[in-house]
Amino acid sequence: MKKIILAISGASGIIYGLKLLEELLKNFHVELILSSSSLKVMKHETDFNINNLNDFKKFYQFENLNIYSDMDLTASIASGSYLTEGMFIVPCSMKTLSAIAHGYANNLITRAADVMIKERRKLILSPREMPLSPLHLENMLKLSRIGVIIAPPIPAFYCKPETIDDIVNFVVGKLLDAMGIENNLYRRWNG
Ligand SMILES: Cc1cc2nc3c(=O)[nH]c(=O)nc-3n(C[C@H](O)[C@H](O)[C@H](O)COP(=O)(O)O)c2cc1C
Repeated sequence: MKKIILAISGASGIIYGLKLLEELLKNFHVELILSSSSLKVMKHETDFNINNLNDFKKFYQFENLNIYSDMDLTASIASGSYLTEGMFIVPCSMKTLSAIAHGYANNLITRAADVMIKERRKLILSPREMPLSPLHLENMLKLSRIGVIIAPPIPAFYCKPETIDDIVNFVVGKLLDAMGIENNLYRRWNG
């Protein structure tokens, strides 16, 4: 199985990261990194009663899934010698965005992203904040200019979503499209 990295940081929209995980597990060996803040936001935004990484690991047991804390800088994915197809950060907080834009690789998420950039591998960020400050916008532009894909979780309404699932499927489908992964998660515009 090809390997792919997914990081979930502590921005709102954890549901997008979890749906993306579900889709990636169908075809990839997934290297999942969870920031400590993501676990706090997950507790607020989902029905999982998760207080720490071990709680999360009890819910997600798959042979093709490795789960890391963002503090684990000894993990294989901290090195460019470990080959992967690319990396998603979904959702991406403004803090993590800023660290990546400045090469500040202080945890496993920002280090793995730094590796993607230096090895010229695909890196897709889904930053979430509203409104966006000039600093947020500058950080996004800086990364976009060096080839990082900035794909915020913004739904479209031309496919007439009726449920939260419809909206999540649209966003996750577009993220998979950006990585070049085939999917039928949303109804495409055919003119
Ligand atoms: C309920 C909740 C929602 C949050 N939503 C956002 C958000 O949408 N965007 C953001 O940049 N930060 C958000 N934050 C703040 C981040 O969690 C915080 O900046 C944290 O330091 C990010 O760390 P991480 O990037 O290492 O996960 C939220 C925090 C909480 C508790």
